[in-house]
Amino acid sequence: MQPKFDPKVFQLGYVALGSADLERTKDHYLKTIGMTETARGDDGAVYLSIGYNQHDIILRPANQKALLHVGFQLKPHIEIPEFTKGVRELGLPVTIKSDSHPGISELVEVTGPGGNVFQFYSAAKAPAPGFSKSGVAPLRLGHVAVMSPEGEKLIKFYRDFLGFFQTDDIGALAYFLTCNREHHVVNILNVPESRIHHIAFELKDNGHHAAAADTLRAAGVKLFWGPTRHTAGHNVAAYHHDPDKVLIELYTEMDTFIPELGICEPRPWHEHFPMKPRSWGLDELSGWGAEFASNLAAG
Ligand SMILES: [Fe+2]
Repeated sequence: MQPKFDPKVFQLGYVALGSADLERTKDHYLKTIGMTETARGDDGAVYLSIGYNQHDIILRPANQKALLHVGFQLKPHIEIPEFTKGVRELGLPVTIKSDSHPGISELVEVTGPGGNVFQFYSAAKAPAPGFSKSGVAPLRLGHVAVMSPEGEKLIKFYRDFLGFFQTDDIGALAYFLTCNREHHVVNILNVPESRIHHIAFELKDNGHHAAAADTLRAAGVKLFWGPTRHTAGHNVAAYHHDPDKVLIELYTEMDTFIPELGICEPRPWHEHFPMKPRSWGLDELSGWGAEFASNLAAG
């Protein structure tokens, strides 16, 4: 029995990536994905917005690709001192930072299980630089998937401390958790490796998948997998790699979670009614039977 659904956070804010080839990677996010640069840090970091937020993706120069941190917005009633006290009681390193990111005056940085760095904040400015008229131009950043040898502890942190709900798993390997009405906001792969698996942007509609694939093709970027409909989450998803070989998912029609019922809203393409949290087989990645180009654990 999962506890009452009352998460401390309500949305994924941003993902920060280290890049060994910042200019080339930035180009992909600006020109091909269709994001806008809103700020630049003293450390050479670039802040990129889909259209409303100050930043959805941060790219920072690094020796090799890396997941630097993930930002989550706290619910309005969560007080930072109380939240910080709770993190300290877990024995996790925590720092309160002022003006470390443009548009965020105060954030709480936590080094979670497996060295996964989180940033929690209450308020962020939204300068709304506008949605791009070119490139893929997604609607929003939807979820992030990470691989971690400390997966079990990481899931426990998300579920027991942050209050996420576990909606599904695949083969007791990939775990799907949510803090809002989307089927998943994070996806944790409990595997020996520690790195990012993919980041996911939501597209306008299914027709946009074809337009996005044409945009990628014009930029010389091939699809890695899809579009196909997943089982867990039932999102129609297409994957490609950014220049750092970070996997990017573009998706539509993600399942809508109803926390009060502990099920997802029924859809004609569901295999089970009601669609309760379940464990899917490793051979059930695609509802349409499209073959995955590599195994899940290897990304
Ligand atoms: Fe995904």
